[in-house]
Parts: sequence; C-alpha cells; structure tokens
Amino acid sequence: MVIVLIVLVIIGTYMLGTLRTYLLEQKKLEVLTRANVIASVQIDGFDEIAIEQKMESMPVEVGFRAMILDSQSRVYYDSYSEGSYRGKLYIYAPVTEVLLSGKDNAGYHEVEGVWKIEAAVPIIRGGKTVGAVLVTANGDSIEGVVHHIGNAILIFGIVLLVFVILFGTTMASILTLPIGRLTGFIKNMPKDKLQKCEINSRDEIGDLVVAFNDLIDRVAELEEKRRAFVSDASHELKTPLSIIKLLSDSLLQTDNPDPEFLKEFLTDMNDEVERLTRIVQRLLDLTKMDQSYTNMNVEVHSIADLTTEVCEKLKPLAENKDITFLYTRPEDDLLVSVDRDSITEAIYNIADNSIKYTESGGTVKVELMRDLGNVMVRISDTGIGIPKEEIQKIFDRFYRVDKARARDTGGTGLGLSIAMDVVKLHGGYIEVSSEEEKGSTFTIILPCEISPGAADTTGESLPENAVEAENPEISELEEPPMEEHDA
Ligand SMILES: Nc1ncnc2c1ncn2[C@@H]1O[C@H](COP(=O)(O)OP(=O)(O)OP(=O)(O)O)[C@@H](O)[C@H]1O
Ligand SMILES: [Mg+2]
Repeated sequence: MVIVLIVLVIIGTYMLGTLRTYLLEQKKLEVLTRANVIASVQIDGFDEIAIEQKMESMPVEVGFRAMILDSQSRVYYDSYSEGSYRGKLYIYAPVTEVLLSGKDNAGYHEVEGVWKIEAAVPIIRGGKTVGAVLVTANGDSIEGVVHHIGNAILIFGIVLLVFVILFGTTMASILTLPIGRLTGFIKNMPKDKLQKCEINSRDEIGDLVVAFNDLIDRVAELEEKRRAFVSDASHELKTPLSIIKLLSDSLLQTDNPDPEFLKEFLTDMNDEVERLTRIVQRLLDLTKMDQSYTNMNVEVHSIADLTTEVCEKLKPLAENKDITFLYTRPEDDLLVSVDRDSITEAIYNIADNSIKYTESGGTVKVELMRDLGNVMVRISDTGIGIPKEEIQKIFDRFYRVDKARARDTGGTGLGLSIAMDVVKLHGGYIEVSSEEEKGSTFTIILPCEISPGAADTTGESLPENAVEAENPEISELEEPPMEEHDA
C-alpha cells in the first residue's frame, strides 16, 4: 500500500508538472504569435483612432489582453475597456527591454497562484523600433486542465489502492493460513509428546512441514537414544550397587564373622566399588565427547609421540600377561591436529582391549603409517576375535560381546564407544576386521597435517582399502569415509 501510494504521488506530481509546463509553452507560443500579428499591422504613425480602426478588423479574443505602446511606453491601444491604460504611460520591464533591444520577449510566471503568460514584440518601421505590442493571457484554462487530470489520477489512485488493499489482504491471508495452522499445531503439541504435522500443501509451506516432520523424527530418535542410554547407565550402575548391598547385608547378618570370610567379602566389595568408579569415570569421559570439537583443546601433535606414550603405559600390562607387545616408533613425526588427551585415550582404549582380549602367549602389534592425506594407527592382536555378527555392535554404548567374561575383565562396554566418538569428532573413523579365535585389527584413521604427496618414511604405505583386503569378509567400515571426513 505504502509503495503504491508513493509511486502514485511521484508519478502524479511529475505528470502534472510536465503537463503544466507543456501547456504553458503552447500558450506562450500562441501569445507570441498574436503579438507578432498585431505588430505586423500597418499603422501610419501612432494615431489612436487609426489604431482603433485597424484593431477592429482583428478582435482580441476573450482571455487575452493586447496593448500597443509607442517608443516612450505610452499606451495607444488597450483591448480592455474597463481599467484601460489607454493614453497612460505603462512602464513595464519586459516592454522596456523590447523597446531597447528590438527583440521579442516572451515568458510566463505565477502571480498569487495565477499563471500569467505574456509576449512583447517590437513594432519596427524603417529599421527602427517605434513601439511595442504586449499581449498577455492568464493560465486559468491551463490550471483547469491540470486540475482535471489531477482529479483523474487521484480517482485512479484511490481505486488502485482499494484494489491493492483487497488483493493484498486476501493473498496474505491465503499465504499465511497454513503457516498459522502450523504455528497453532506446534503451540498445541502436548509438552510430553512429539507429534508429526499433517498439513498437506504442495508449496513452500509443504516443504516446511516435511522439514518440520524430519526434525521431529530426529528429535524423537535422539530422545530414544538418550532414554536408552540413561536406562543402560542406570542398569550398569545398579549391578555393582546390588552386589555391594548383598555382600554388606550378609556381613551384617553374620555374628562374629571369620576374618578370612570377612576379607573375602570386603575384597569383593572393593572390586565392585572399583568397577563403579570405572563406570562413572567412563560416563564422565562420554559427556566430554558431547561437547563440540571447537571446545576441545586442539593442537598439532606428533601421533608417534602420543602412540609411544600409550605403548609405554601398556607394555607392563602385556608383559604381566605374557603377551608379546610390538611397537617401533617411526622416524617420521606424523603430525595431526588433535586434542591430546582424548586421542591418547582412544588409542589406549583400543590397545588395552587387544591386551585384554588376547590370551597369554599371544601378540599385540601397534603400527603407524600414512596413506594419502591420512595417518593410521593400526593395532592388531592374535586374541579371541569378535564374531562377525557382533562387529557392528561393539561400538555401541555398554555393549560387550561376552557379558560373563566382561565381569572378570572389568569391562564397562564404553571404551570403544568413547574411542569412536573421539575419532569422529576429529574427522576420522575406525575400521575393524576380526576373525574368531584368530585375532582382530583396529585401524584409527585421522586426517594428516602434512601434505599427502610427501615421501613416506614410516615404512609401509598401504592402499586405501588395505583393511578390507586383508580379510574382505569380516572387515567392517564404520562410516562412509569421505562423508564422515566431510562432516
Ligand atoms: N581386540 C578385541 N578382541 C576381541 N574382542 C574385543 C576386542 N576389542 C573389543 N572387543 C569386544 O568389544 C566389546 C566392547 O569393547 P569396549 O572396549 O567398548 O568395552 P570393554 O572393553 O568391555 O570395557 P571398557 O573398555 O570400558 O573397560 C568388548 O566387551 C569385547 O567383547
Ligand atoms: Mg575396552
């Protein structure tokens, strides 16, 4: 409405202004022509009666005033009978100018809201200016036309405005109706339940509803995961607590317990407390992963340094179990942008598993290599392996392949889940291949800081699908590598 109004005012003002100027110019020409015609009439000397007779043959039309003046500005003829200047001196600048210069003078100006158009031309006899003709006209008729057209524009504008208001409000209500329905639907949605919207529309509103419903699906999925996590976590925490409760109850009910018996019970209780502590620590680690990558303390580190650190810690553990632990630090420092603590923990969790799930006499090998723009930390063992159908699940929170055995090894089922979260946050992924009773290979792949084309000084450089190539049947790719990397 405002835009239409502004456009109308601008166009109206411009059109009326142009029209007025055009009409005034036309009138000026007309007045000038009349003055020239009168000036061309042959007058023998300035004799009032002779002039009167000559002028009778060319009457001056209504709306015009003609005056004939001599070189002294004395008026000899005035077409106005009322208020006539005849016989008087009429000193008027445009006339004086014409008498002095001998040239035409025409123009128009506004006097108290009324346009006045006038033309003064010289009367030349024998090459000398002997007098002047002054013809004037007022612009009433012009203003009449301008007013008329102005009124037409105004009426057109009002009609257009009414149309714009009606059309605009109708269109706006048609367009905003589905938005209003969607807003109403969202507002009225029960606080404890997520619902999908069922508005069918083939336009952008339809797209908005589809996007909204997708969002609802994603939120519901997240909510389901959260619920499952809380329930799993509570269950995991409840088990050691129940055992402690059971043991303490039996102790309380036993009068004068045997010291040996007492020690055994207290040792069991202590083990469960340790287990509880481990679970809580793991849960805290997981909540850390929920923070974004940008909140982590990401710096450029040598992956060789970080891996060496982990291997130093784990070596005694392997030796205790009589496991051959192989790790040779590469000469090249492969640089990665990582949060030191979390990546160290991810490598630790995987290498710790390899030691934990390998029998005495087995071998655990840690290797570092570069492939294209990535660095790989490959940890392989000759342990118990993972059944093919379980490989998908081992990264799930609290998942353990052998629950009974997990109690002995103290496993919480969170180590790999944490490792995967960490590696994904760094734009990497973890590949697994495993065969039951033969062993498993876990490969952490992280984007490298140095250019992929640089010479490989870390020994072997494997083709991209190296892990699958070793044992294509049981190799599992956790995520499509490029997508994950992009994400
Ligand atoms: N190298 C491996 N060999 C055989 N099985 C493995 C290996 N690594 C992991 N697993 C299996 O995957 C499961 C999940 O591993 P994860 O590290 O998440 O949990 P955990 O080792 O049981 O407990 P945590 O690491 O929290 O102490 C393990 O319980 C185990 O059954
Ligand atoms: Mg583990």
